[in-house]
Amino acid sequence: MTQTLTIALTKGRILKETLPLLAEAGIEPVEDIDKSRKLVFETSREHVRLLVLRGADVPTYVQFGAADMGISGKDTLMENGADGLYEPLDLGIARCRLMTAAIKGAEPRQRRLRVATKYVNIAKQYYAARGQQADIIKLYGAMELAPIMHLADEIVDIVDTGNTLRANGLEPREHIADISSRLIVNKASMKMKHVLIQSVIDAIEQAVDAKGNAS
Ligand code: PRP
Repeated sequence: MTQTLTIALTKGRILKETLPLLAEAGIEPVEDIDKSRKLVFETSREHVRLLVLRGADVPTYVQFGAADMGISGKDTLMENGADGLYEPLDLGIARCRLMTAAIKGAEPRQRRLRVATKYVNIAKQYYAARGQQADIIKLYGAMELAPIMHLADEIVDIVDTGNTLRANGLEPREHIADISSRLIVNKASMKMKHVLIQSVIDAIEQAVDAKGNAS
C-alpha cells in the first residue's frame, strides 16, 4: 500500500525560511502558498502534502497524528509540551531568544510581579524556578504594550532584533532560552512509516547542513 506523508508547517516568518529548506530537500508545493487561501498543498514529491497552520496548532496536529511531521518553533514546543513527539532535527532557522523585558530603567519590584505573556506555562516554570512569586496574565499579542499601560511589570516574549522592545521604550532583561525551529515527528508515524519519514528527515538534514556550510 502506498504511504502518504503529511507535514504541518507554521505560517508567517517561519514558513518563509522553511520553504527553501524543503525545496532543497526535494519537497516543493505545486502552487504558491502565499497567493492561495488553501490550507492543504500537494507537493512535487508524490504522496507528500503540506498543511499551513497557526504556529500553536502545529504540535497539536502532530501529537494527534493528524499530521505525521511538523515544523515548529522551540518556544511553541516548550509552551505546549512534547508528549507523543520526537524532535529529531534543529533546523537552525527563525532563530531568536525568549526573554523577559521591562520598561527601560525600571527598578525590579520587590513585591509579587505581574507578567504578561502568551507563554503562560514557560513563564510559570521560569519564575517558580527562581523563587519569584508572579501572577501571569495571558495575552495573545502586542505584549510590549502591557508594561506601558501598567497591566504588567514585565513581559516574557521572543526577541529577534530587539527593535520592537526599543520602539516601545522597553529593554530585554533575563535570557530564558535560545529559540529556533525544529522538525517534529509523531511517534506512531515514526514506527509505521519509518523508511519514508527517515528519508525525509535525512533529506532535510542535508539541506540544513548545506545551508550551514554556505552561510
Ligand atoms: C514577535 C515578538 C515581538 C517581535 C520581536 O512578534 O512578539 O513583538 O516579534 O522581534 P524584534 O526583536 O525583531 O523586534 P511577531 O512579529 O512574530 O508577531 P506575533 O506577536 O504575532 O508573534
